[in-house]
Amino acid sequence: MATQDVKTNTQTTTHWQRFAVPFEFPVCFTENLFALDNTTLVDTLSRIEPDKRHRALIFLDDGLAQASPTLIEDIVAYATHHADRIDLVTRPVLVPGGEKIKSDIHFVEQMQQTLYDHRIDRHSYAIAIGGGAVLDAVGLVAATTHRGVRHIRIPTTVLSQNDSGVGVKNGVNLYGAKNYIGTFAPPFAVLNDISFVMGLGERDKIAGMAEAVKVALIRNGAFFQWLEKNADQLATFGKEALATLIRRCAELHMHQIGHGGDPFEMGSARPLDYGHWSAHKLEGLTRYHVRHGEAVAIGIALDARYSVLSGLLDAGQETRICFLLEHLGFKLWHPALEKTTAEGELEVIVGLQEFREHLGGELTITLLSDIGVGVEVHEMDSNLVMQSIQWLKARQAP
Ligand SMILES: NC(=O)c1ccc[n+]([C@@H]2O[C@H](COP(=O)([O-])OP(=O)(O)OC[C@H]3O[C@@H](n4cnc5c(N)ncnc54)[C@H](O)[C@@H]3O)[C@@H](O)[C@H]2O)c1
Ligand SMILES: [Zn+2]
Repeated sequence: MATQDVKTNTQTTTHWQRFAVPFEFPVCFTENLFALDNTTLVDTLSRIEPDKRHRALIFLDDGLAQASPTLIEDIVAYATHHADRIDLVTRPVLVPGGEKIKSDIHFVEQMQQTLYDHRIDRHSYAIAIGGGAVLDAVGLVAATTHRGVRHIRIPTTVLSQNDSGVGVKNGVNLYGAKNYIGTFAPPFAVLNDISFVMGLGERDKIAGMAEAVKVALIRNGAFFQWLEKNADQLATFGKEALATLIRRCAELHMHQIGHGGDPFEMGSARPLDYGHWSAHKLEGLTRYHVRHGEAVAIGIALDARYSVLSGLLDAGQETRICFLLEHLGFKLWHPALEKTTAEGELEVIVGLQEFREHLGGELTITLLSDIGVGVEVHEMDSNLVMQSIQWLKARQAP
């Protein structure tokens, strides 16, 4: 149908407006992004207007800044060295790292004020350096300031480099609801620097690997085998193995978003959320003491067992999946899985309903029919969920 064709019935004339906007952005993998001779960042800034000095403001995760005491000075020195191409409008602005920044909407307004004070316009850059939480909050700020300023993400955790950072979503929490306020807004660019990840604490290094196991299970059996084969190096955080995991996982996420047919999640299916329905609930039930990746690992194991119990997946495959996760350092049990409501209902099962409500539409859960093959179902049997939980519990028994 041509644009603006006209349909008429007896009461109404309808003009159809129709246009398509292609999205593209680079995802770069590098090391030592702020080494003076690394031109990735300034090349990125210059992509559209090569002969210009680009105004940029950096929001920096304070947890990262604490872990890398020379980072702020390194960034300032980098900007000074490349002053012909980058105009850092102020020193990097520290923002709270972790879920804190997403849990108080005031931080969003504060960052908008900062962009306003420094006259960041639609041709300037708001750059976020930090974990997934900081990227989510700054992404929302960038997407809504002037209806969208150019936004560069520099993810610094395993999870944000291999999953959230390469995605197209942002958001913060409100009314106690996770990601209640947010937009779909592809960034201008994503720059992944492995050296940030190497400085991360062990717990966060392990947690981020859950998303790689997840995407391998639903999309790529060969990648799952690679993870099994390299589990020793991954469990000891070998740089090469970790960098390969991040890159491969990011590629698979990019492929799903770019070619899965629903980048802005208009439909009910959320294939990348395998293992996530119970994970989201578990995070909330433990007031985020359990990290996202840690909860996802448990959710993966739960849904693998459920897949077996419901006859989709061959028995024994769930044990293989659990073995890999445990080898990587995950614990596949948390007592909050057994928490019940005042009415005696399992909280995680209530979480299933909340998961559907958050997405809207029909309940769609991805399960497994094989290693590397996700299948969608639209119903979950509470009894089988309970049996899966009991199975996980029994596996942890001494
Ligand atoms: N937008 C999406 O599509 C999407 C997808 C998945 C997850 N997420 C979100 O991502 C968030 C989790 O992100 P995360 O796992 O990256 O953790 P995080 O952002 O919560 O960071 C964890 C901790 O690590 C610190 N930190 C960050 N980088 C560091 C580094 N290199 N060295 C030392 N400390 C560092 C932070 O200050 C924080 O204290 C959640 O809010 C989740 O909802 C978003
Ligand atoms: Zn996730």
